Amino acid sequence: MVGADNIGICAFLWKFCSQLLPCGSSQGCSEPDHVCVQHSRCSNKPLCYPVSMMNDNICPPQLTVMNTTMATIATTTTTVTINNTVIKSKFQQYGTIVAGGHRNGDKLDHISGPHRFFIDENKAITMLDSWKNRVIKWKSNEKQGAIVAGGNGKGNRIDQFDGPSDMFVDENNHSIIIADSANRRVIQWFNNQTQRILFDKIHCGGLTMDKQGFLYLYDVNQANVKRYRIGEEKANQGTLVASGIVRGTAVHQLAAPMYMFVDENQSIYISDCINISSMNMKHQVENRPMKWKKDSTEGVIVAGGNGNGSRPNQFDCPKGLIVDQWSQIYVADFWNDRVMRWREGDKEGEVIVGGNGRGSALNQFYYPTGLSFDLDGNLYVADDANVRFLRFDLIL
Ligand SMILES: *[C@@H]1O[C@H](CO)[C@@H](O)[C@H](O)[C@H]1NC(C)=O
Ligand SMILES: *[C@@H]1O[C@H](CO)[C@@H](O)[C@H](O)[C@H]1NC(C)=O
Ligand SMILES: *[C@@H]1O[C@H](CO)[C@@H](O)[C@H](O)[C@H]1NC(C)=O
Ligand SMILES: *[C@@H]1O[C@H](CO)[C@@H](O)[C@H](O)[C@H]1NC(C)=O
Ligand SMILES: *[C@@H]1O[C@H](CO)[C@@H](O)[C@H](O)[C@H]1NC(C)=O
Ligand SMILES: *[C@@H]1O[C@H](CO)[C@@H](O)[C@H](O)[C@H]1NC(C)=O
Ligand SMILES: *[C@@H]1O[C@H](CO)[C@@H](O)[C@H](O)[C@H]1NC(C)=O
Repeated sequence: MVGADNIGICAFLWKFCSQLLPCGSSQGCSEPDHVCVQHSRCSNKPLCYPVSMMNDNICPPQLTVMNTTMATIATTTTTVTINNTVIKSKFQQYGTIVAGGHRNGDKLDHISGPHRFFIDENKAITMLDSWKNRVIKWKSNEKQGAIVAGGNGKGNRIDQFDGPSDMFVDENNHSIIIADSANRRVIQWFNNQTQRILFDKIHCGGLTMDKQGFLYLYDVNQANVKRYRIGEEKANQGTLVASGIVRGTAVHQLAAPMYMFVDENQSIYISDCINISSMNMKHQVENRPMKWKKDSTEGVIVAGGNGNGSRPNQFDCPKGLIVDQWSQIYVADFWNDRVMRWREGDKEGEVIVGGNGRGSALNQFYYPTGLSFDLDGNLYVADDANVRFLRFDLIL
């Protein structure tokens, strides 16, 4: 399937090549119930193939087929409804440790408080090591990582951090953007040696970037998220994209880590586990990831929203949040030691990995925080108190 990683279609080769139309711009199909596929026997260019030719009786199913009301096979640009069947991806229930797992103080094989991380095309993990004020890149199959930003102690020199709360690895520009919280600045690092201050006088509690290169900053004091065009950050004041996230002030540094994810349509998803016990605040713990559509003035609850707990429709401190190519929302449920998956409109989520009690077995977590996918669709989980990263392979 064009635009989808590792997803094939099993279909009757019934149609003649001459009957198949090329996919339109952005790999869409204008005829109803057609999907855009690579069909090299017919053409080098992607073609639209009728969904009615699909059949999983003629070859083994590649994805778990569940019977519910809404049915989608989605690519990044196409969504096709096939009768009443939802096709869902599944993951191995036992993970593989891909980084960490040791407790060695300051050494480079030790990760403290793994939260935000990125996986590149070679499956190297770049992770923010907040408590040690550094960013580490851990290549696949290596026993330790290497510093790629910071690592010069805590401080306010240009090459130091003080309690960084979040980061974004911008593969296109070979840079790392860091929310250097206590220094009240957002700083960009290039090649482990050059730095550029993008914003100062901002208490940034979280940041992310979209595919178009806009930067999103969560301003703790203003309790809002604004979008900025990089390169013009000094000139513009940013566009407000979400507000009133934290009701109240005096949020303690790192007390309310904010996980943000922006999808291809510039909708912004915000997962806010607010730890009231560490703040002088008296408001409800949210436990409900929100989605703010582009240009909307209010967010909608996309998961949870049923108070703090361990039922399938609840969270107990949602942290890392990512959205896959089928618009399914994955949330690390910190205190419940599980990763949940929701679709917008679902009444409850499903446990995707973990949920087997707290522990260090490979099907358990001890405070899962960050989440990410690699290019093959495998799921990675930062397992905070076990100081490790686990990979859960996608089962096709
Ligand atoms: C799907 O679910 C409906 C209602 O629960 C049931 O009647 C139907 O037999 C199911 N279909 C399959 C293929 O399992
Ligand atoms: C969809 O449903 C129709 C009618 O129930 C059936 O003929 C067709 O085979 C189904 N298509 C798939 C892909 O299951
Ligand atoms: C980055 O610079 C530090 C010194 O500041 C050095 O120890 C480290 O090895 C460098 N990392 C890489 C990947 O070159
Ligand atoms: C990429 O880096 C250059 C400086 O090397 C900078 O001018 C430009 O704004 C950056 N773009 C992004 C999207 O970070
Ligand atoms: C909340 O804050 C308290 C006090 O700082 C800390 O002991 C506790 O571990 C925190 N809980 C979470 C879920 O971060
Ligand atoms: C959720 O509730 C439980 C029990 O009431 C409490 O121990 C826990 O700290 C709460 N979680 C958060 C994030 O407030
Ligand atoms: C983005 O918008 C398109 C068109 O409305 C929609 O089909 C697609 O599912 C959206 N993507 C996500 C991740 O919601």
